[in-house]
Amino acid sequence: MRASVLFVCLGNICRSPTAHGVFQSLVSAQNLEDAIEVDSAGTGSWHLGEAPDRRATQAAENRGYDLAFLRARQLSQADFEHYDYILAMDKENLAELEAMAPADYQGELSLFLDYSDSGKNREVPDPYYGGDHGFDQVLDMVEQAAAGLLLAIRHRHGL
Ligand code: 4NP
Repeated sequence: MRASVLFVCLGNICRSPTAHGVFQSLVSAQNLEDAIEVDSAGTGSWHLGEAPDRRATQAAENRGYDLAFLRARQLSQADFEHYDYILAMDKENLAELEAMAPADYQGELSLFLDYSDSGKNREVPDPYYGGDHGFDQVLDMVEQAAAGLLLAIRHRHGL
């Protein structure tokens, strides 16, 4: 059974594009591109149409991920009709998702790091106003959770 995943942060230029690129790369490496759809969006609208922050692009490129083709978009009501998994980077993003979701949303809203083996209820900290090191920390967290998410989806969807 097919699955679709949407990663959500505030600006869609740092954390969620990083999750998008890393998870897409895992999905492609396992030849699951036709079975698992991946996208990302921001709850805010400041950066619409922009490429990811160059610090995020550089940190990802250092580990072999290409984020340069991504463009920021804002989360919309239609996303709740389309995506099976809408995964928030932090609790503020999750609260916005829960407030926006229709009462009959059939998919899953959760914190992305709940798929990491380092414990529940953890957040990917916003690296935007910090130094380059923050972007490497984001990648460490995202790589772990992406692996856990893919295992869970393969199991649940029989892929
Ligand atoms: P993101 O980071 O949510 O990980 O994309 C941010 C990017 C931009 C802003 C905030 C967070 N901003 O306030 O412009």
